[in-house]
Amino acid sequence: MIRKCMFPVGGYGTRFLPATKALPKEMLPVVNKPLVQYGVEESIEAGLNYIGFVTGRGKRAIADHFDISYELEHQINGSTKEQYLESIRHVMETGVFSYTRQKEMKGLGHAILAGETLIGNEPFGVVLADDLCVNEPGEDNVLAQMVKIYRQFRCSIVAVMEVPTDEIHKYGVISGELMKDGLYRVSDMVEKPDAKDAPSNLAVIGRYILTPDIFEILRHTPPGKNDEIQLTDALKQQCQDGVVLAYRFKGTRFDCGSVQGFVEATNYCFENIYQQGDNS
Ligand code: G1P
Repeated sequence: MIRKCMFPVGGYGTRFLPATKALPKEMLPVVNKPLVQYGVEESIEAGLNYIGFVTGRGKRAIADHFDISYELEHQINGSTKEQYLESIRHVMETGVFSYTRQKEMKGLGHAILAGETLIGNEPFGVVLADDLCVNEPGEDNVLAQMVKIYRQFRCSIVAVMEVPTDEIHKYGVISGELMKDGLYRVSDMVEKPDAKDAPSNLAVIGRYILTPDIFEILRHTPPGKNDEIQLTDALKQQCQDGVVLAYRFKGTRFDCGSVQGFVEATNYCFENIYQQGDNS
């Protein structure tokens, strides 16, 4: 069914300079685990174990992270420190990783189109690793919740949450008709509108399920907001031609693209994951 998940990780991470001068922002640790690993674990747990990274220059550390480090394995094998490698070993055993490079940063839509070669003609997930999502213990993670909806409706799905008016300009914003609890049929989408022009307070966060016709639409999507090729514009086209759903997910999302969100995520993960004994 859905097997693949795309991770656009080409962005620069300027908000975290100087930390991100030589280090990809996706490798910044939230407690003891790089941000991107949280997203990859969510994807694999949702059953999407073919992971495709759309990378850029200066991002090699990501590929190294999901590959064997012989030196480290050799040193740590059989020692008490082995437990610290548990989570990444599990990810490496269950995930299948592939990479392509986006040569120029021309927007999220451009990155997704660059990743077509990793996906082919099948539906796929997209995770923006900057958005760290956590769920209550025993509940499905956000991507898994969306996969369940996809099984029923077989169309593109975006994850949305309510945001305050003064933050709406940071997001893609939808308007739509409520179909049933938490599920909307999208009728319009706008990328980063001024608060006064926003069609609602439902903002898209970095979890998507996309049907592969999105690639053809993206090929013909002109640059939009900030002169970038916007996924939001392609999804708007898709909802005009067919059906796109917006899903108010269950769980908490941290905006790790901002310093404040990153610190909040760190505190949350320290208290709720690390201190609870899962420190791998
Ligand atoms: C991207 C999307 C935007 C979405 C956001 C979620 O924006 O373009 O529609 O709301 O991710 O995090 P970015 O934050 O990459 O500028």
